[in-house]
Formats: sequence, C-alpha cells, structure tokens
Amino acid sequence: MIPPTLPAELKAALEAKLEGFSRSEAAERAGRISETYRAGGTSATIRSERDALAYALARMPATYAAVAASLNALTEIVPDLAPASLLDVGAGPGTASWAAAQAFSSLTSFTLIDANDNLRRLGLALARDSARLEDYRYLPGEACTNVAAADAGDLVIASYLMGELGEDDQRRLAEAMWAKARHALLVIEPGTPAGYARILALREQLIAAGGHVAVPCPHDGPCPLVSPDWCHFSQRLPRLQAHKQIKGADVPFEDERFAYVALTRAQVTRPHARVLAPPVVGKAEIVAKLCTADGLAKAKIPRRDKAAYAQARRWRWGDGVMDES
Ligand SMILES: C[S@@+](CC[C@H](N)C(=O)[O-])C[C@H]1O[C@@H](n2cnc3c(N)ncnc32)[C@H](O)[C@@H]1O
Repeated sequence: MIPPTLPAELKAALEAKLEGFSRSEAAERAGRISETYRAGGTSATIRSERDALAYALARMPATYAAVAASLNALTEIVPDLAPASLLDVGAGPGTASWAAAQAFSSLTSFTLIDANDNLRRLGLALARDSARLEDYRYLPGEACTNVAAADAGDLVIASYLMGELGEDDQRRLAEAMWAKARHALLVIEPGTPAGYARILALREQLIAAGGHVAVPCPHDGPCPLVSPDWCHFSQRLPRLQAHKQIKGADVPFEDERFAYVALTRAQVTRPHARVLAPPVVGKAEIVAKLCTADGLAKAKIPRRDKAAYAQARRWRWGDGVMDES
C-alpha cells in the first residue's frame, strides 16, 4: 500500500520550481484552467511553463491520490504483479509514473507519452534529479499514434486522459493500449457519471478483447448499476500550504472522486464483493452497498453476528470483501 501523498522527492522538486512564482498568479492560472475543464475543454489550454506549473500544483496531488488508490486496489488483488516497464499515456507532468514507482519496486523503465510540450518539459524537470526515475523518457505527440509505435510495457496506465478524446479515439486508444499491455492496463477517470461511462465503455470493449477485470469489479459481467447511479470512489488527501493558497481554501484536505478499471491478461482471484459507498453503521446493524458477481446487494450485518459485524466495521468505500461473511 502506498500513501495518497506526493513522494518527498516530487514535493521538493515542485517546491523548487515555485521560486519566483507568486501564489496569486498560480491561483489565477489554475482557476482559468479549471474553468476550461469544467466547460468541457482540455489541457490544450495549458500553453506556457507557468500554466503547466499552476496545473501541477492545483491538480497533481489529487490525480496522484486517485492513481495511488487504484494501484493499491490492484496490488491487493494481484500481489505478485511486478512490472519492470511502464507506459504512462497522457502522462502530463508524470503523475502516474511517480505513483507506480512507489507502488512497484520492480519498475525500472518509464515511457511517458504526452502531446503537450509544456507539461512534458515540467515532467522532465521534476524527474531530473530522481535516482528512482533514471530510465525515464517522454515520447512527444498524439497518444494513439505513439502508443502504437511504442514498445510494450508490463503495465500501461492512462490517468485522467480519456475525457480529453472523442469517442472514436477513446476506442482506438483503448485497443492500442491493450495491445501494448503485457500484464495489466489501468485506466482512471474523474468520478463523474461521464467519467464512469467512459470507464464502462472501455471495460466492455476490453473484456470482449479477452481482458479480465482485476479491479474494481468482482466479475466480468455487465455492470449492475442503473442510471442515475454510477460507480465511483473517493480518496482523501492532505493539502499542502501552496495547494491551499492556490485553491483559495482553508480546509487542510480534499476528497478526490474517481472511477477506474484495471484489466489483466491472466485470470485473477477476485474478492467476493466490492464496497460501493460508505457503509452505514447503525445501532442494530451495518448496511453496506456491495457489488457482487450476482449483482448489486444491500448487505445487512446484524450486531448480534459478532464476528461478521466486527469484520464489516472495517469496511471502507472501495474495499474488496474477500469472503462471504
Ligand atoms: C488531465 S491531464 C492528466 C495528466 C496525468 N495523467 C495526471 O493524471 O495527472 C491529461 C493529459 O493528457 C494529455 N493529452 C490529451 N490528449 C492527448 C492526446 N491525444 N495525445 C497525447 N496526450 C494527450 C494532455 O496533454 C495532458 O497532459
């Protein structure tokens, strides 16, 4: 398990880049970029080195936390996954690569693909002094073309990328990334209904192509959730001082909502169920919303069933439930 916080080396590299960059300017640039995103725009709005740094300060802690949580879920189900090479698609400043480097001591080779020069330059600068990220290179240009041309990776990750592509490109890229994933592909999106819909489409496409869902679903069958419900998870992360200033917020943490799926080439032993919302702990019972191979279940665990109740008290939103208790 890795923590949802940026590694000290990355934090220090970001802080070093902040010298001479006023918080008010960073906040103004980050605010403009967020507005563009909210209006359905893309990171093409990041047009300078300063934009890239403002974006990283505002968003990298949260997208890192979502990648870390997804990797933790994946390594819990596939504990023997030991990738040596990573393909990080739509890598931006290198968020997923940093998280994967923490999660897998086996990783030695990092290939990042991104179309944005400014984010690429920032990503290279952040990793420059890292001994851990020694074999670390960016392929500039468009993701579909570049993934097709890249060497395969033991693990392929696309974090917060799919939403920037049209539907046809999402399908093309999903196919290309799967073709290059030797062992596993992890795709993460914002935890909105639209982000979930993209994850669901990719999940169906790649199950049809022979993939097995490792997480979060405890099955390869159709998703049992019915609109307006959608599958998403939440990761709490602390806010650094600069992060608070840029967001104009006093609260020392934020909750990042995300949707994700990881597919593997080999079958894995899945949990019996996954917890889809914070369980409600009442006086007489715990009520939990679970996804199971048989569909959606509202589990009620009475206090009088002491062992099961004690176990259910430890359940958190997003957890895999390993047996039927
Ligand atoms: C929202 S950012 C996410 C960055 C990073 N993966 C993260 O999780 O923090 C999306 C990234 O995808 C890149 N991108 C978007 N469309 C792309 C495309 N067609 N080809 C390559 N990169 C693309 C953008 O330049 C940007 O760096």
